[in-house]
Amino acid sequence: MRTVHRAVELRAIIQQWRAAGEAIAFVPTMGDLHAGHLALIAEARRHAARVVISIFVNPLQFNDAADFAAYPRSLERDVAVLAASGGDLLFAPDAREIYPHGMETGTRIEVPVLAQELCGAFRPGHFTGVATVVAILFNLVRPDIAIFGEKDYQQLLIVRRMSEDLRLDVDVRGMPTVREADGLAMSSRNRYLSAEERGRAPVIYRTLEILRARLLASEENYAALEAWGMAALFAAGLRPEYVAVRRAQDLQAPNPADRQLRLLVAAWLGSARLIDNLAVDC
Ligand code: PAJ
Repeated sequence: MRTVHRAVELRAIIQQWRAAGEAIAFVPTMGDLHAGHLALIAEARRHAARVVISIFVNPLQFNDAADFAAYPRSLERDVAVLAASGGDLLFAPDAREIYPHGMETGTRIEVPVLAQELCGAFRPGHFTGVATVVAILFNLVRPDIAIFGEKDYQQLLIVRRMSEDLRLDVDVRGMPTVREADGLAMSSRNRYLSAEERGRAPVIYRTLEILRARLLASEENYAALEAWGMAALFAAGLRPEYVAVRRAQDLQAPNPADRQLRLLVAAWLGSARLIDNLAVDC
């Protein structure tokens, strides 16, 4: 697998592949790769002759400078992990390559409403940063298909919407969340947990599963279910931001006629902000 840092190098290689009629699948990441990322790459491999991965810790999507500074960076280890992953090309740009005219004055992509809900309400500007960097990366790579994790379910919907609205003609696919044996969703941020916190973290998934069972048993008082979920997480020593029952398609508040729901959680545990979600097909 080749690694390039410059957009001109990336484009030259991709042009050759395109000229040879090869389809391109793309997996954008911020690195510190784990089995969740590798599942996306394996899926990408199934769909295209060429698989491009990007690693870029995008400053525009961090609403907290300390969080950006602390985010794990491990390019050498990631390159070693990718060597066995089935990827063809790693694009690992620096910030000047992505924002050549400066990040502060650059064009930004907004996805109203969808990006203001849930995580968007607690992390102002976060999804503008995500939509903007993914639009830039899609334009550089011009993939036929891009694979994202359902672990970041709101992000997946925002990227899909952005891609459709801007007619980028990229097929944005979601992949199920890869979990640890005890149910905790794999995440680069799990590194921030102490051993004791790591022991408590699976309460998030357990709470989601209980809520799913209650929804499947036809409970329809969503506000009461959300309040119960918040209390369960507080009782386990977490600091939940939200526990939400939403419509899967657009993350708006559901009504009992909606059959495809999504349960979503964001909660702090020590210095880690953890998110998770589950599909509920009633
Ligand atoms: P990052 O957190 O590195 O995640 C990259 C991709 O891996 C995302 O699509 C994410 O949903 C997926 N992913 C992470 N953990 C996963 C898990 N446990 N199971 C399945 N998929 C998982 O998300 C980002 O980076 C950035 O916001 C990015 C899209 C790259 C834009 O900067």
